[in-house]
Amino acid sequence: MNQQWDQNTLYQWMLEEDPSKLQELYKVAYEVKKQEVGTKVYYRGIIEFSNYCRKNCYYCGIRRDNTAVHRYIMDKKTILDSARWAYENRYGSLVLQSGERQDEEFVAFVEDVIVSIKNLSHGELGITLSLGEQSKEVYERWFKAGAHRYLLRIETSSPKIYADIHPADHVFDERLRALLTLKDIGYQVGTGVMIGLPGQTEADLVNDILFFESMDIDMIGMGPYLSHEETPLTRRYPISTTDLNRNFTLGLKMIALSRLYLRNINIAATTALQAIQPNGREQGLKAGANIMMPIITDTAYRKDYLLYENKPCTEDTSDDCKQCLAGRVFLTGETVGYGEWGDSPHFLKKQA
Ligand code: 5AD
Ligand code: SF4
Repeated sequence: MNQQWDQNTLYQWMLEEDPSKLQELYKVAYEVKKQEVGTKVYYRGIIEFSNYCRKNCYYCGIRRDNTAVHRYIMDKKTILDSARWAYENRYGSLVLQSGERQDEEFVAFVEDVIVSIKNLSHGELGITLSLGEQSKEVYERWFKAGAHRYLLRIETSSPKIYADIHPADHVFDERLRALLTLKDIGYQVGTGVMIGLPGQTEADLVNDILFFESMDIDMIGMGPYLSHEETPLTRRYPISTTDLNRNFTLGLKMIALSRLYLRNINIAATTALQAIQPNGREQGLKAGANIMMPIITDTAYRKDYLLYENKPCTEDTSDDCKQCLAGRVFLTGETVGYGEWGDSPHFLKKQA
């Protein structure tokens, strides 16, 4: 496959359904991954430290109005225990994720946790935040405290779909501004989309890839859109098994095409892939992804952090996940970059 990658070819491939042609696509994407970022998989252990959220996204299982959810916020010690575990097990970095809150108590708590994680790991653990939209001042405080990457998914680059899947408190232009602010401050910025949203076409997904390019994004975390019974979006547009399988394949295509088009960025094989197929994350690696985000949330809390149904690993401990993922990575013929940050070459080039 000797192909010029542009909007047109991306679109042709996004429509492709022939399984053997798609295998060919994934293979070429894998070759480009090997050339551009190598075959080491970098870990970002994710600590889902609270499911309180003031937002009400129509697709999300922990949205504010879902009263069936038991709400929690971990105490500092529980978070630091997971961070220490990550450090001792040589996970290069971790992600602090929670629902969205902007109150000072929360902001100061996160700031304090960041400083403590940096201290306990002698500065070695990289810290990524995934804490939604915040003011510039808050992003700066957390950056100063020691976080250096931020994940904020655009969810979809189509303002129309964005408006359809969120209540009015979500404003597309504010999301864009937040991404630009994060970049200005000096964070490595990650974004991503959900794949297979109601009303989303293949052309929209191609636009998502072009959006990643136009925003000069360093890392991408994206995955299939999945159902959750307690959400307005699933109630309105139930997802069939056929839809799920389609979303899964689109998810792999998005990884492969992003790799082929954007080349030297980091792309995560997300847990959402594994919610549809047991070896979904390995398939993600084989289609061009190079990052995994093992869950290191204390097991007692995992069942309360269900953004979507069938989330895997909710009964497991961090040790289980470590063993399991090491096996999965080994089976794909790759190695784990233990103890390394694994920044994307795309980001490092800009620093040089
Ligand atoms: N299906 C797939 N991904 C989801 N997320 C939230 N709800 C769902 C769902 N139903 C994703 C969003 C969010 C991230 C933390 O989880 O993309 O940014
Ligand atoms: Fe809250 Fe994030 Fe879920 Fe939206 S996607 S309801 S901001 S946790």
